[in-house]
Amino acid sequence: MYLTKTQEEMLSGAKGVALAKSMELIVKIGDVYNANQLIPIKSAQVAGVSYLTVGESIFSFFDLLAKDTVKVKVPTWLNPAGMDMKNWQEMGISSDFAEKQFKIIKFYESLGIEPTLTCAPYLIGHQPSFGENLAWSESSAVSIANSFYGARTNREGAPTSLASALTGLTANYGLHLTENRNPEFLIKVKANLDSLSDYSALGYWYGKNFHGSIPYFENISHLDINEAKMLASALAASGSVALYHVKDFTPESSSVDIKNIEEKVEFTEYEKKGIYEYFKQIRKGVELVAIGCPHASYEDIKLIHAILQSREIKKNVEFWIFTSSKTKKLVEVESLLNDLESRGIKIYADTCMVVSPSVGGAFKNIITNSAKAAHYLCRADTTMVDLLPLKSLMKEVTE
Ligand code: F3S
Repeated sequence: MYLTKTQEEMLSGAKGVALAKSMELIVKIGDVYNANQLIPIKSAQVAGVSYLTVGESIFSFFDLLAKDTVKVKVPTWLNPAGMDMKNWQEMGISSDFAEKQFKIIKFYESLGIEPTLTCAPYLIGHQPSFGENLAWSESSAVSIANSFYGARTNREGAPTSLASALTGLTANYGLHLTENRNPEFLIKVKANLDSLSDYSALGYWYGKNFHGSIPYFENISHLDINEAKMLASALAASGSVALYHVKDFTPESSSVDIKNIEEKVEFTEYEKKGIYEYFKQIRKGVELVAIGCPHASYEDIKLIHAILQSREIKKNVEFWIFTSSKTKKLVEVESLLNDLESRGIKIYADTCMVVSPSVGGAFKNIITNSAKAAHYLCRADTTMVDLLPLKSLMKEVTE
């Protein structure tokens, strides 16, 4: 792989251990994928934040980086943590866990990383531009960046996204290359997509059946950012799909090559129903409704408020919405937060139902409108999940 003089210097350790280790990692991965060079990135999104998912080992990695005074070279944002950074006690988080979580965030901040603590940075003003190269790591954010905005990123792991943030570079392979962004399956969507969970069902069905391949969806009549994120997250959860195209909506849909696609499949009401059936596990007694995977937008929360009307959440049911602190603040300003809270809905920021210890294992029966959340939550042996459209879900848990 060709390296510039400055890149060679960083790799040799002339600019410190942290940069040398970061370069080593990026170059090694680039070599595996036959990258010809390193390319500059515009931003990074770093996973490996929740203490639940990173554990103690993160601290020895931090010790290594702390040998030098390094700062990120591009705007860098953090994925959700394991708890709401303000209301962690209310979530039932132990002080020991909280202490470790604060330590992790503090270290990332010392590197110059903005503690956004969200998997949807594009909802809080960090939308990438068309054609920009990035190093993002959370799977749904990666897919949105590639698909909805036409930016270019591979799905980075926590260490590689951080290495890219510190060096401002990534290896030129995979989805950074135009020739790897063509669709492989053409999907005619014949089912109605009437709710966010229907988009989620479509993504989950595709990923389950055509793992790792890029779809081109036809016949979808509407795709806003909220629908796109549900589709993206489900595609990534069931099939590790990091890029999709939707005719007339996504920016590369008119330029990619669809003439040579041999595989053509239909998504009908039958396939859609099949996904809802697959996640119909609860026999009786819903304990928790978990919304906000990916993190809820302002519009998502407004929609819940509108569907709720004058009703309240049933006494024995918890209803939690997960979002970013920035979005929560927006909801708070409009006194929407007070109204939702007074009727039994809690909004937690900075974390989510999958990366917080307060959900998985703590609740047995959980309803959600996200196939990605359902996918991860039911992996705990003791947890049963139902996937439902928002309106049906609200009907079931309100009075
Ligand atoms: Fe985001 Fe957590 Fe879902 S990180 S995409 S809300 S699993």
